Amino acid sequence: MDAILSIDEGGHIVMYNRAAEQTFGWRADQVLGQPLDMLIPPRFRAAHAGHIRHFAATGVTSRRKGGVEGGKSGGGEGVVLWGLRADGSEFPMDASISQIDTPSGKLFSVILRDVTERLKARRDLARFATEAAAIREQEKTRFARELHDELAQSLTALKMDAIWVRHHLGADAPLAGKIDGMLALLDDCVASTRRIAADLRPLVLDDLGLVPAIEWLVQSFTQRHGVPCMLDMDESLELGEPHATAVFRIVQESLANVAKHANASRAWVRVVREPAPGGDFILLQVRDDGAGFDMDATRKPQSLGLIGLRERTQLLEGSLRIESEPGRGTRVEARIPVPSSPASAWRAEGAA
Ligand SMILES: Nc1ncnc2c1ncn2[C@@H]1O[C@H](COP(=O)(O)OP(=O)(O)OP(=O)(O)O)[C@@H](O)[C@H]1O
Ligand SMILES: [Mg+2]
Repeated sequence: MDAILSIDEGGHIVMYNRAAEQTFGWRADQVLGQPLDMLIPPRFRAAHAGHIRHFAATGVTSRRKGGVEGGKSGGGEGVVLWGLRADGSEFPMDASISQIDTPSGKLFSVILRDVTERLKARRDLARFATEAAAIREQEKTRFARELHDELAQSLTALKMDAIWVRHHLGADAPLAGKIDGMLALLDDCVASTRRIAADLRPLVLDDLGLVPAIEWLVQSFTQRHGVPCMLDMDESLELGEPHATAVFRIVQESLANVAKHANASRAWVRVVREPAPGGDFILLQVRDDGAGFDMDATRKPQSLGLIGLRERTQLLEGSLRIESEPGRGTRVEARIPVPSSPASAWRAEGAA
């Protein structure tokens, strides 16, 4: 059963059901006639009184009330309200409010539900998704290493042997022609193995770090597609996991989109750390001057790239903005909170 309580215009509790007793830990006789504030954490009380006044004046039903914690997703779903129990503990809740006119003034009724379990389930799911993404990356890294270290090396050894055979063959023209064909095929095999390994996982990211990996990405984009790409990046940028992989993958998918869809004559990549009072974040932009697209058009069912970018940023509690218009290029911008660097922590201390 949902907890239900009513308050009068003065904000005093006039009705309080059994479920509310269980939810808040106060008996009815302890709360009746008391201000509603006793059920709300102190830091949310002022905002809450404002909600009630607004509601009384406009009659606009707000589905939720009480302490409001900023919604991460921006939509109603992410907004969490907080209640205060008799033992001083706080809990997240979902609440709806309605009002009735009585001869002795307005009465506000609030129906609320403790959503601790639901919130915990959502957090567990997000943690699970982050771990699943990390495991997928580890698997890809293992495949990439095997391809690069085992297969590509064996193919190279085979090629050396073929060159040796070719050298010792003498003037047998048909055999030499056959060996030349094999050598060309081996070259292709080595190149594709290296490319597949690099697409699976940029081993340079593990071996050398994020900055060289992004430089490599931008250079190979220009080499493969002939589109000049400006790179603006902090040379000293260092990020741990899972942030480094996320930044790399976002740039990789965005540049793949430029190559596949934009027909652009230029592209820009920007990756910088921005210090902010609440903690640093990475600002990541990939922009092109190409064909753009209609953002309102329905998505092709097989298109997963942009959705993947959004999921990646959300898993790290960041935000993603995509701006595009036919004929006016495309811009992908991600902001991802990251642990503060020693440099910015030092700056923050200096400012305090
Ligand atoms: N830089 C860009 N320029 C022009 N159009 C773009 C650009 N980026 C994305 N689009 C458009 O948005 C659509 C969705 O992109 P998304 O990356 O989600 O899917 P995809 O690239 O088609 O397929 P996938 O990434 O799953 O291989 C694309 O099909 C394309 O029409
Ligand atoms: Mg794509």
